[in-house]
Amino acid sequence: VDADPSDADGILKLQYLCYQTEGRRYGDYMIPPLAQTLRSLLEEFPTSVMLAAKIDDEVVGSVRGRLEDETFHIGRLVVHPRLQRRGLGKRLLGTIEQRAGGASRLELFTGHRSQEFLNIYEALGYRRCGVHTVNEKLELVYLEKKAPSCDRV
Ligand SMILES: CC(C)(COP(=O)(O)OP(=O)(O)OC[C@H]1O[C@@H](n2cnc3c(N)ncnc32)[C@H](O)[C@@H]1OP(=O)(O)O)[C@@H](O)C(=O)NCCC(=O)NCCS
Repeated sequence: VDADPSDADGILKLQYLCYQTEGRRYGDYMIPPLAQTLRSLLEEFPTSVMLAAKIDDEVVGSVRGRLEDETFHIGRLVVHPRLQRRGLGKRLLGTIEQRAGGASRLELFTGHRSQEFLNIYEALGYRRCGVHTVNEKLELVYLEKKAPSCDRV
């Protein structure tokens, strides 16, 4: 379902929990998903599609997307560790893809050593389209896919 600003706290806590493994993997616990403040997350609401999967009042999954020019930027896909590997991540991604509005392409990124996420995205039809070097420990691999209802790209 669409997240409400009152879900921001739950989303941020889940984000902090889920990105610990990425922090450990890259030896950097100040990566943006771990350093984000509640205020900065709240600022994303007006300009983003923000989804939250909830069980009762607990946020157990989330993903967000933002349209910029013709690209829908998807990010911060998270599923609570106790519910991972049951298809929720794929469902969240499939749902946000349908919300890409007037975009012609979808784009997301992950760390170059995050092989399982690269596998997930490639299995869902994303193709690598670029690399951005953040520092000597981390490169971001960008992946793209044609937007669902678009004939271009
Ligand atoms: C990425 C994430 C959201 C996936 O959520 P999920 O609910 O576990 O994903 P799904 O169950 O839909 O799995 C999707 C596919 O990826 C595979 N997969 C999921 N986690 C995996 C892992 N840790 N290792 C290997 N494969 C994995 C599954 O086998 C599945 O493929 P299949 O359906 O063909 O078997 C979740 O692992 C997560 O929150 N990770 C930490 C947060 C993070 O770092 N996100 C950043 C991504 S850039």
